Amino acid sequence: MNMLHFSTEVSAQISQIIIPVTSKKTLTEIIPDLDWENIDFEAKKGENLSVFHNAKKYYLFGLGESPTFESTLHVFIKSSVNRLNKFSKEIAIDFAGLSGEANFSELLDASVNGLISATYDISLYKSDKENSFQFSEIHLVCENSESNQEAGNRGKNTAEVQHRMMDLVNAPANYLQPKHLAEWTVESGKKYDYEVKIVDKAEAEEIGLHSFLAVNQGSVTEPKFIIAEYKPKNPTKIVKKIGLVGKGVTYDTGGLSIKTAGMHYMKSDMGGAAMVLGTLELVARLQLPVHLIVIVPATENDVDAHSVKPGDVIGSYSGKTIEVIDTDAEGRLVLADGLNYMVKNYNPEILIDAATLTGNSVLALGTKVGAMYTTDKELAEIFTKIGEETGEYTWQLPLWDFYAREMDSDIADIKNYHGKPTAGSITAAKFLQFFTEEHPKWVHFDMAGVAFGPTPYGKDKNATGYGARLLMEFLRKTN
Ligand code: BES
Ligand code: ZN
Ligand code: ZN
Repeated sequence: MNMLHFSTEVSAQISQIIIPVTSKKTLTEIIPDLDWENIDFEAKKGENLSVFHNAKKYYLFGLGESPTFESTLHVFIKSSVNRLNKFSKEIAIDFAGLSGEANFSELLDASVNGLISATYDISLYKSDKENSFQFSEIHLVCENSESNQEAGNRGKNTAEVQHRMMDLVNAPANYLQPKHLAEWTVESGKKYDYEVKIVDKAEAEEIGLHSFLAVNQGSVTEPKFIIAEYKPKNPTKIVKKIGLVGKGVTYDTGGLSIKTAGMHYMKSDMGGAAMVLGTLELVARLQLPVHLIVIVPATENDVDAHSVKPGDVIGSYSGKTIEVIDTDAEGRLVLADGLNYMVKNYNPEILIDAATLTGNSVLALGTKVGAMYTTDKELAEIFTKIGEETGEYTWQLPLWDFYAREMDSDIADIKNYHGKPTAGSITAAKFLQFFTEEHPKWVHFDMAGVAFGPTPYGKDKNATGYGARLLMEFLRKTN
């Protein structure tokens, strides 16, 4: 069922119409018989006005002079979130005011993405759902061209996947355990036609995922090592093989190096898993021409007599030994096995991982920009640019080799924490790199600040849906 409809005119039975505009002049052309001179609206970015006219309600969304994907997306989200109780379930967006814009299809994509995103229902476990609202039909009034259809479809699917990602990240640990992440992937794979294999604890032991399993030692919930593979149906050319690995720590107590403040936020420690699984589903929904392998090592990091102890030396899938200095540096332990398993078994041309890895990345870049590390200059440029274009910002930090010396252990091949409050995100990245078999095109996203934080959907910190749009745009543009 598709809720998007294209038409060249607003049909008579539709009573609510959103009009995104860049200037007041275009409005005088779209609704000519209104007394615009006496209406206080300049179409500045973020400016809103609702007017009744001829038994229809018009929502004017000002986009400012040169709207981009990013600005349009955010105007639509912000302007719509507070109007959900006013909107009718069937609504039209009249794009007449944007038809001359060179980036029209991007603005269309952003408008649809933003409007649907705004309907995100944060009240997951409330007994009273009075504020839930969803559109049943969205009419897009513009030319019904192939590129417009693609853009609308991209906006809708991205928004829907972002909602599903936010549900995962907002779910607390008593609702979302490794087995639920596994079930989510299996269900999604059935629906959107991609392969999923779930490696359980016994098989993980056989395979030798020692570093991953060490993190799980203190948990009563079973770990799941999720592997998924998407291939395009009828590829018309040779497609790139891309590997995505996401940190799936469904709850991070810190282990025996127990956390103190803000532990309840650590239900969000599978934000990297949500990012790569969301990307996978989005790519499958859009049938993008790319070969995608996704790995999510999913476990809790718990406190128990069986927990891995600070000082323990553990093995890993790579065969390298790790001295566990701090059990709260567990993300890198599960990723070490995820990355190494990916490289050895699938050898992807581009290797990408995403993780809510360090508090230090938040100190460095705040909550709007994620940290990026890469062994490839071109990839750094591409992701920085796509980050700016999508509003899912990412900024490169260095991987110079002298940082790796900080992770040298006296008794094992590497240690998981250098013991200092400085350069924590960089040294974590160097730890991960140790397990990538010197992959020449590796990108690591430390998304601790951006996966979970302020959003338009609630008052506290909440899931943002960060990352799927960023990766999808990359995959769409680099194949
Ligand atoms: N999950 C945390 C990182 C994190 C911090 C995510 C804040 C989201 C918000 C990670 O496992 C962790 O505990 N990292 C430690 C590493 C340290 C012990 C080396 C940190 O950043 O303090
Ligand atoms: Zn931790
Ligand atoms: Zn963690």
